[in-house]
Amino acid sequence: MIRRNLISIIISLIILILLFIFIVIPIIVRNSITFQRFGVFMNIINVHYFHDLSNTEQFGLRCAKPFRIETTNDEGNINLGAWHIFPRDDYDECKREAHDFNDDGIIVLYLHGNMASRAFYHRRLLYNLLSEKSNAHVIAFDYRGYADSTNAIPSTFGLTNDTRNVYEWILGNNVTSDRIIIWGHSLGTGVATRFLSECPDEIYPFAAVIESGFTSIVEASHHYPLIRLFSFLPYFEYCFVEPLVNNPELNFNSTAQLSTIRCPLLILHAEDDVIVSFDLGRKLYEQAKMLQPKNVSEQTQFVSYPAQYGYGHQDIYRDPDLSKTIKALCNTIN
Ligand SMILES: *[C@@H]1O[C@H](CO)[C@@H](O)[C@H](O)[C@H]1NC(C)=O
Ligand SMILES: *[C@@H]1O[C@H](CO)[C@@H](O)[C@H](O)[C@H]1NC(C)=O
Ligand SMILES: *[C@@H]1O[C@H](CO)[C@@H](O)[C@H](O)[C@H]1NC(C)=O
Ligand SMILES: *[C@@H]1O[C@H](CO)[C@@H](O)[C@H](O)[C@H]1NC(C)=O
Repeated sequence: MIRRNLISIIISLIILILLFIFIVIPIIVRNSITFQRFGVFMNIINVHYFHDLSNTEQFGLRCAKPFRIETTNDEGNINLGAWHIFPRDDYDECKREAHDFNDDGIIVLYLHGNMASRAFYHRRLLYNLLSEKSNAHVIAFDYRGYADSTNAIPSTFGLTNDTRNVYEWILGNNVTSDRIIIWGHSLGTGVATRFLSECPDEIYPFAAVIESGFTSIVEASHHYPLIRLFSFLPYFEYCFVEPLVNNPELNFNSTAQLSTIRCPLLILHAEDDVIVSFDLGRKLYEQAKMLQPKNVSEQTQFVSYPAQYGYGHQDIYRDPDLSKTIKALCNTIN
């Protein structure tokens, strides 16, 4: 008797959990912009929440200076936390101020993916590598709503504005745009393509790296591990996809920007990427070849990494040839 009760309790519990996962969650996702925004930006997940990001020494960067960028528009004040990581040549002295670009090194403006901050471990390892192996300046910042930047609501427009403001700050320091590479990773690739599509000709960067990127966030969401769990539901499109398609604040669509991207793209993608599927990186490359202006698309390249290297979504910095690839990119253009 007791046993039969126990079994029926367990079965009821399982049914309740399944109902919650496959009915309640989809209803919440469909109706809550807060939830949708969280799914896209994940800005409140931050392992360095209690760290002071302006104290760069604790992050194992060889030579870096913190700085902040403040901008004002109709939306109010936006204040962004940022780092200037200096090239290898400065390691001994490390006395320069953030905003000193007076040498001939390339400048990488890094646009991070969703979740965490500019201090996330694989991002820092990439900055160090670019600084050490490519003797580059790296500018890394947090978008609004992330880390120590103004706690404003993130959106496609907001993140693109933040990027433009940081870019203009770089140019304001006696820098010409032919030294600048935009480097987007994951969600940051969606920001990068938007920024590039809107950037005026006179200040166009010379190239962009698209690391582990997607064609559109809508296509990426179909492959996204947690969301894929729901993909068999007849109301999957209605609950998980339509809210992204219909909201321009969430709909990052790189495909739509390609025809107006006027610098070469270097698209990097690992075959074992389980977050943004490899197929989307290759598809973006094929679209870029077709849609970018002809004289630019000729220089757009795709580098794929076999699954056995284990680079996954965020470890392409481990490629021992990465600095050679960057060098080749600089040489084809300059
Ligand atoms: C982005 O910048 C434009 C131009 O300054 C401004 O009109 C718009 O309100 C900004 N949007 C956001 C979300 O910051
Ligand atoms: C601006 O950059 C040029 C070339 O890098 C350099 O010769 C010049 O001294 C710089 N000017 C200032 C004011 O720093
Ligand atoms: C993305 O843009 C392309 C090209 O403009 C368009 O065909 C496609 O429907 C867009 N996708 C989404 C999800 O908005
Ligand atoms: C491509 O061609 C356009 C005009 O057709 C020109 O303005 C632009 O500078 C060229 N870009 C490159 C990278 O050669």
